[in-house]
Amino acid sequence: MNYISLENIDSLEKWVKQALKIKKKPLKNKKLGKNKTLGMLFFNPSLRTRLSTQKAALNLGMNVMVMNFTSEGWTLEFEDGAVMNQGASEHIKEAAEVVSQYCDIVAVRAFAGLVDKEKDNAETVLAGFLKHATVPIVNMEGCTGHPLQALADAITMAEYKTEHKPKVVLSWAPHPKALPQAVANSFVEMMLLQDADFVITHPEGYELNPEITKGATIEHDQNKAFENADFIYTKNWSNYIDYGKITNNDLNWTVTAEKMALTNNAKFMHCLPVRRNVIVSDEVLDSENSIVIEQANNRTYAAQLVLQKILENAE
Ligand code: CP
Repeated sequence: MNYISLENIDSLEKWVKQALKIKKKPLKNKKLGKNKTLGMLFFNPSLRTRLSTQKAALNLGMNVMVMNFTSEGWTLEFEDGAVMNQGASEHIKEAAEVVSQYCDIVAVRAFAGLVDKEKDNAETVLAGFLKHATVPIVNMEGCTGHPLQALADAITMAEYKTEHKPKVVLSWAPHPKALPQAVANSFVEMMLLQDADFVITHPEGYELNPEITKGATIEHDQNKAFENADFIYTKNWSNYIDYGKITNNDLNWTVTAEKMALTNNAKFMHCLPVRRNVIVSDEVLDSENSIVIEQANNRTYAAQLVLQKILENAE
């Protein structure tokens, strides 16, 4: 069993219930991972994913090895048949097989380069590990998705929702750097698995991959989208059509207390890290309606559920 995308979840409702059970007794399965090793390979920085996944593995009694690949590993080649007379020192074929000798599960973080859409959509790094590793692979955020984050988001919403069918708004917000679409993509995929009144709001031209948003409501008027919302989930992403570019940086899209006042006393969510007073005002982020810290806390239980399922599957 791998955990690469939301497609690996057979029933989101069931998984959320199981994660909430783990949250109540996180050390219940402390023996399950005894003498098993999780290898965590980072091609990009992280705070939450690194520490929460490590904590999850420790809760299961696993050993953990972490490698910051870009600063500590050999530069990898991913192309079959490449003549390796340039910068890359090691082919993914050997690297993935070798890592599999030391680890029982390998987790990989490899963001989108945001230059070549086709290359990013092919998920070169994750696909390379999937093809050549001989152990299960976990996606700790690839080019196009962040399924551990989306699972944590689903757990958090289940804890805080008061309506059977809440209104949930995914709102684009400005950011000075070009960011990937991965978090937004997985959030959309997760929401489309739920019974909710789900609305995506972003400036015109900032459409996400239409294959992912198929069936979702898109509203270009942010104020209208916020009306009566129960959850506001904010995230920046760079342009998917004019790939990887920032074509809008309008601070009128920043989530402010005035905008939150349009909602049904909505909870504010963001995956973090977040740029204060660019994505969201201090007032909103520091308000009692902000649930970003609990959202980050739930990353542990999302990761623990995934690791537990992989370990049980291997028994
Ligand atoms: N939300 C998230 O993935 O945080 P990090 O990038 O810090 O891991």
